[in-house]
Amino acid sequence: MNFEEIRVGGCCSYLVACDETCSGLLVDPELSQIDRTLALLSKVGVRLQYIVDTHTHADHFSAAHELARRLRVPTVMHRASAAPYVDLRVDDGETLIAGHLRVRLLHTPGHTEDSISLVLPDRVLTGDTLLRLGTGRTDLPTGNAEALYDSLFGKLLRLDDGVAVYPGHNYKNLPVTTIGQEKAENPRLQKRDRSSFVEQMHALNLSMPDHLTEALRTNRTGGKTVAQLLDEAARQIAFLSMEEVQALATAGTSDLVVVDVRERDAYEAGHIPGARHVPRGQLELRVDQLLPDPTARVMTCCEFGKISTLAAATLRILGFTRAVALDGGMKAWRDARYPTKAGKEP
Ligand SMILES: [Fe+2]
Repeated sequence: MNFEEIRVGGCCSYLVACDETCSGLLVDPELSQIDRTLALLSKVGVRLQYIVDTHTHADHFSAAHELARRLRVPTVMHRASAAPYVDLRVDDGETLIAGHLRVRLLHTPGHTEDSISLVLPDRVLTGDTLLRLGTGRTDLPTGNAEALYDSLFGKLLRLDDGVAVYPGHNYKNLPVTTIGQEKAENPRLQKRDRSSFVEQMHALNLSMPDHLTEALRTNRTGGKTVAQLLDEAARQIAFLSMEEVQALATAGTSDLVVVDVRERDAYEAGHIPGARHVPRGQLELRVDQLLPDPTARVMTCCEFGKISTLAAATLRILGFTRAVALDGGMKAWRDARYPTKAGKEP
């Protein structure tokens, strides 16, 4: 068996593959690690059969949908998952086959109602049900402390003591533990009767994860994150550095049309000298009036360099084949003490 961990921050994703056939499955891929994950698949020479999300993540962005689309590999989740893009909905006790690998699935609700764990001969991928010397929380949507008790004591802790634990999170960079070690040392598992375990979970009083709403929106629907939209737009264009823009202005021979896409107040408070003004919201409607020559060299700018990226990508779609964006935004431009001009557009 080929086993690789892809970790970012405290989030852990796993690639499990059959040595003989090079067939494998990817578990809990994270959106910001798409290129790294694809590179790893090529490097180790694995053809994915499945992409599995152990549950609906509330604290990070799943790459399952995007990778499944790019690689034409089915996504797998428990049947209770709300995500409409899931190709294969599974249930407790079922097995996924990749080459000679047999991966048994356990429904282990509690952290979420759609949580599953993946059992391999020597290890178990526990998602956020059982963490190393910890457990998943039960206070996020569809969480349930009673169900977590049943999943832990009724299922995961009944695996052989020597089975190694590979969780969905490892915030403290803990080395591999085993089921036996978890039983003996995991502080939360020392509350062995149901009511004190549940009481303990209810008393945790944890703060809400960052990006909870955006993570649930995208992971439950297959929709895109804002960062994903920006990344896609950035891949459709090129950028000009502030130094380059200033050098062009100083040379005085530039044919560059600077288009400031911020709102009027921001533009009038200070813009790149000579910049034209069209708010992002009016770009498509006013573009022909503003830029009658689609072959013009156009550079968009905004306050932080994000909306200008979207605007330049839109201009490319509209046929402005030389549209680029400022690398950075007007805030960085001002901070670098490049010249600005206040007032209305001439
Ligand atoms: Fe989670």
